[in-house]
Amino acid sequence: MMERDEIVQFPKLELHLHLEGAAPPAFIRDLAKRRKIDIAGVFDDQGQYRWTGFDGFLSTYDAVSSALTGPQDFHDLTLCVLEHAAGQGVIYTEAFLSPDFCGGGDVIAWRDHLAAIEAAAQTAQSRWGIVMRGIVTCIRHHGPQQARKIASCAQETAGQFVTGFGLAGDETMFRPQDFVWPFDAAREAGLGLTAHAGEWQGPDAIRATMRDLRVARIGHGVRAIQDPSLVAYLAESGVVLETCPGSNVALGVYARLRDHPVAKLRDAGVKVTVSTDDPPFFGTTMTREYEGLARCFGWGQAEFAQIAHTALDAAFIDAPARKLLLKRLEEACPIPT
Ligand code: ADE
Ligand code: ZN
Repeated sequence: MMERDEIVQFPKLELHLHLEGAAPPAFIRDLAKRRKIDIAGVFDDQGQYRWTGFDGFLSTYDAVSSALTGPQDFHDLTLCVLEHAAGQGVIYTEAFLSPDFCGGGDVIAWRDHLAAIEAAAQTAQSRWGIVMRGIVTCIRHHGPQQARKIASCAQETAGQFVTGFGLAGDETMFRPQDFVWPFDAAREAGLGLTAHAGEWQGPDAIRATMRDLRVARIGHGVRAIQDPSLVAYLAESGVVLETCPGSNVALGVYARLRDHPVAKLRDAGVKVTVSTDDPPFFGTTMTREYEGLARCFGWGQAEFAQIAHTALDAAFIDAPARKLLLKRLEEACPIPT
């Protein structure tokens, strides 16, 4: 079993992290106070976020995000999140960025917010070595019309820093085929594609997401385990799952970590990666995720090296930056045989 220090130091790549969802409660509390925004109801007696069930989580998430008002707040949030991640041994973070919370989908406002986020990412890289890229993400329950606006934001800003396009939010609303237009637009802009599926809905939703949105990665995807033929198809297709075990347990998708299918999916040849989703909401960190996997499934250096290499291969990043990250990874953990 790896020591705690070894787990902290182990180089980690996180592909599934919502920027607002990574905001520490103290950061949001302080911001709300300074902005005179009353969101006292989102905190419990211990100062942690208060929510019950997935709907409750989404409402608290909205309220928390409402405290972030303007580019400077997103700059400070990005710096805070990356400093914390670097302290967990994270060398690469791909963050979901939501224009909905950065000017409501207006392209000009989005550019201002994005410039601030990117400036913070550059500072973080020079201070702590952590590399960040952004996935512009539409929010499913805001509907397909709004998603088109978000796709325009993504098209306008696609490049070195914005490298992906995603879909998050309430999976029970709308169908993947309702989002074909935004995903086609993002694909044409050269962006890597990912969509949340199979967190709340079953295998059919995962199949429809792969078919209609032609994504390279799926956020969660864990309910594929209900259908062995889909598990085989995922393994064969090489589609990568961004699993977030701690998130799934906190939200009640699985009662206990040992019930989580990540190890079974991996054993079946599905490409899996591990992320935190919205760490302070779910009482998790990358280190805690790894500790849980070590404890429940006996994972160690070999398994963690494999998921790190899988994440690097699946990262939405340019070739030179990928090569630099590979060098850092190889120094710490050679490619597993
Ligand atoms: N947005 C932030 N976290 C999410 C999750 N776990 N599922 C769907 N949308 C989200
Ligand atoms: Zn998510």
